[in-house]
Amino acid sequence: MKEIHLKSTIFMVNYEELDIQDKELVDLAKEATKRSYAPYSTFHVGAALRTKDGHIVTGCNQENASYPNGICAERNAIFTSQNLYPNQPIVSIAIAAYSNKDFTLSPVSPCGACRQVMVETEARYNQPIRIILYGKAGTYIIPEGINVLMPLRFVPDSLKDFE
Ligand code: THU
Repeated sequence: MKEIHLKSTIFMVNYEELDIQDKELVDLAKEATKRSYAPYSTFHVGAALRTKDGHIVTGCNQENASYPNGICAERNAIFTSQNLYPNQPIVSIAIAAYSNKDFTLSPVSPCGACRQVMVETEARYNQPIRIILYGKAGTYIIPEGINVLMPLRFVPDSLKDFE
């Protein structure tokens, strides 16, 4: 039997320790939670990303009475960025969530579907996405990108095994 050990690094920082660019994204992600439409979960998520050419795009979750038809903040921001700035790699994304009259204490972590979309976006541009997960009690920074949150991920090249 062979053991495979996965190694990854996540930094935990206070808001004050964030650099100016990350702070800007966190602030915009927090602001985006105000535009969330989440009457069913009352969990208001915001995301803000930076494209390689320096544009910032935000997104927030949009729910629906037919529950599965809503969309998460992260995918909203990523898909919007590709509409506004076609073929632009994404270099970083910040996520924040507001619930019970305050931002979450713990860093909010993207759902599986959003992780898979981040996998595709990284692979498409061969560009890791710096991920910043805001929490009042501490913020995670994941400079390496989605492989940390999604090891053994299904990537576009995985399809080639079946050709
Ligand atoms: N949600 C996001 O927008 N992003 C996440 O990372 C986690 C979950 C949304 C989906 C749904 O509208 C609400 O939060 C509760 O799951």
